[in-house]
Amino acid sequence: MQKTTKKNEHRVGARDRKIAETILSQISASPSAFHVIHGMEEKLQRAGFVRLAETDAWKLLPLGKKGTGRYYVTRNSSSLIAFVIPKRDFAGCRIAASHSDSPSFKLKEAPEKEDAGYIRLNVEGYGGMLCAPWFDRPLAIAGRLLVRKGRGAGSGIEQHLVQTDRDLLMLPSLAIHMNREANDGYKYNAQKDMLPVFGDAADTGRLMPILAEAAGVRAKDILGSDLFLAVREAPVFWGAGEQFMSSPRLDDQECAWCSLEGFLAAENAEQMMVHCVFDNEEVGSRTKQGAASTFLPDVLKRIGDSLGRSAEQYHRSIANSFMISADNAHAVHPAYPDKADPVHHPRMNGGIVLKYSASQKYTTDGVSAAFVRDLCEKNGIPVQTFVNRSDEAGGSTLGNIANAQVSMNTADIGLAQLAMHSPYESAGVEDVRHLIRFLQAFYCSGPFLTADV
Ligand code: CO
Repeated sequence: MQKTTKKNEHRVGARDRKIAETILSQISASPSAFHVIHGMEEKLQRAGFVRLAETDAWKLLPLGKKGTGRYYVTRNSSSLIAFVIPKRDFAGCRIAASHSDSPSFKLKEAPEKEDAGYIRLNVEGYGGMLCAPWFDRPLAIAGRLLVRKGRGAGSGIEQHLVQTDRDLLMLPSLAIHMNREANDGYKYNAQKDMLPVFGDAADTGRLMPILAEAAGVRAKDILGSDLFLAVREAPVFWGAGEQFMSSPRLDDQECAWCSLEGFLAAENAEQMMVHCVFDNEEVGSRTKQGAASTFLPDVLKRIGDSLGRSAEQYHRSIANSFMISADNAHAVHPAYPDKADPVHHPRMNGGIVLKYSASQKYTTDGVSAAFVRDLCEKNGIPVQTFVNRSDEAGGSTLGNIANAQVSMNTADIGLAQLAMHSPYESAGVEDVRHLIRFLQAFYCSGPFLTADV
């Protein structure tokens, strides 16, 4: 990340800049969903959280003696749920959910493919990415390897995170001279256009050894993998006041890392605080570790079982719970204000964005909006509104999907950003602080309804 320039070039305060730098450096160090969860585990462990495995028996205790009350569990190493059990019995939960994955390209099995004397890597799209900005920028590979450990009886399989920490791949554009219409719009063919160049014929067979070396394992022991292309560019601050920032994977790692900050800074004696990060939002969430899975209800039920709470207590606590689904929102684009709703124009650095959709692709309704607005007002956090133009379908997120498994009052929020699903996205520096403060206030919040609605 570039260092600070002259003082008079700044509009953003030093503290805001510092907070944004922290979040961006975590995003930079997390080129895949597996790396996001690994980084969060490290942070949680430093904060005294105890790791649970879904395969073990859970013996949970509320906050009290050292080493009790704070726990986390992962699924598939790409989704995570962390929670804090209050000292006294809890009335409900304060849950913030975001996603660990970002649109990219996934390597197919045996990915090396020879074309005209080059080796390219055979990949397929993961999620709804903008294709054009993937061209002409250095790319790396990141993900996980499943590696054989030992031989014969007692042998097993272990997982290693991997990232090639160098400029390994490139997707070179076709020259304008060979496609004079290139600037009139281009339809990318996923199988023809999107395979990055890895080397020439002499490099045949080198991919797995390079990945094995990066992971510190033997190539012949690799039995399986989940590998993605990753953008190499470091985040930057830009604009006359350096009030904007750009980085890979802002959607949705910006919300995921801010959620963790808010969670770790909060305390709540009456509500169980729950930090959830789900994988596979970009491909519909319908995986064993996605928001549509049983991960969240499984964990909530097991917490209750382990604490000896009754089914009645479980259902009462869910009815008393509130979820924030945190996923970035579209800022109005200066060249395309006509693409936004005619009234609601969220801006970068304008504060958190409350997202609405009549079809309930976003869960926000009158009740949950009232709760969010009240919280923002009490804590001096700016809040703005996003709703799609009535003739645009728009995107979706994970709040309504998670609600199909555990149903509770939920609001969809995010931060305003540009270039969503580009490999290099832009957002507002000051918004990072707004979101962390909002989530901290949310985690600290108490009962919000005076009657059932
Ligand atoms: Co997203």
